[in-house]
Amino acid sequence: MLALEQTPSEHGEKGYADFSSTGPGTLAGRFLRSFWQPVFVSRQLQAGRATPLRIMGQDYTLYRGSGGTVHLIADRCAHRGTQLSTGWVEEDCIRCFYHGWKYDGSGQCTEQPAEDASFARKVRIPSYPTREYLGLVFAYLGEGQPPAFPRYEHMEDEGVVHSYSVLLPYNYFNHVENSIDPVHVGFVHRTSTFSESGVVGVPTVSAEETDFGLAVYATRTGGAVRQTNFEMPTSLHLKIPPLADEGWRSQLLWQIPRDDFSHCTFVVLHAAAGGDVADRYRQRLTELGQPSSGAELGEAILSGRLSVDEIEEHPTNVINVQDYVAQRGQGVIADRVNERLGRSDVAIILLRKIWTRELRALAEGKPIKQWKVPERATITAGV
Ligand code: FES
Ligand SMILES: [Fe+2]
Repeated sequence: MLALEQTPSEHGEKGYADFSSTGPGTLAGRFLRSFWQPVFVSRQLQAGRATPLRIMGQDYTLYRGSGGTVHLIADRCAHRGTQLSTGWVEEDCIRCFYHGWKYDGSGQCTEQPAEDASFARKVRIPSYPTREYLGLVFAYLGEGQPPAFPRYEHMEDEGVVHSYSVLLPYNYFNHVENSIDPVHVGFVHRTSTFSESGVVGVPTVSAEETDFGLAVYATRTGGAVRQTNFEMPTSLHLKIPPLADEGWRSQLLWQIPRDDFSHCTFVVLHAAAGGDVADRYRQRLTELGQPSSGAELGEAILSGRLSVDEIEEHPTNVINVQDYVAQRGQGVIADRVNERLGRSDVAIILLRKIWTRELRALAEGKPIKQWKVPERATITAGV
């Protein structure tokens, strides 16, 4: 953990390369907090309900007003600190369970049943901007004004959007680095919808920095190029195989730390399908149900009770179990000191250089790069 109070010279190279620690006062945490990030799946928060949230080691209260608007405020009541998510949502406000103090969505206390009327206006708890988009609740947890909200126009095209999240018990950066590692697909996903759809073998990997992050190219022996885009700070945008006859889908993933030992993967899938094809695809999604994190079977494999080739699950879950085994298999936080990177790790090496450069800029009080979202997806299936 790197304390913010340290002067830049005390960070050293190693400090700039500490991507795993994201709690308050860490460089990576400050960096991540400078972006809009998904924090919850919209449909899982009903109107009039509140839920506790933990993001990057900090706790919050997320609630949906009775009119449908989502609000994100501090976790604890200013009075005597009980957990606000246990209270009652009233219109766009939340009333504390303990002694009934009431807060609006800006964190302003508006009512204190047992106090003089003049006290409430002096009490305010932190609040954070939120937006709902593509089936997810996004929040800005950083300081000052939020950057422009990112739009993914290609995900807004006509079609079927499916969003969900899974919680995984290891550091988010294991997952970030896995996502730009095209070689793993031929091994980890050797038996999966990827291999069934022609993503097989060992590709040649190259990568370049772009105005959104990294473009990663995997060229296979036949010449087909699979392009996946990594969008700063943690998102992967890729083409994934169909479940029915809906064609290759666009998938956006975000890796959001819950704390340094667990993270949430937020997923948005877009299938450019209409009419009967869309209906069949929706039906298939319903049959398969909410994808699992892969943790249960993944742990059975990691402990030696099951072989990775023995799993029979629905197609998304097979991939999730496979990725779980590879990523959790590195340890809760991957050891980036005693590793041996090779030529095929070029995308990971480039990503670490970019992250280190940005964390150094933050530490030195210099401007960080202003990243853009690609106007249209340039990703390809590569088969
Ligand atoms: S602790 Fe919330 S009103 Fe007392
Ligand atoms: Fe994978």
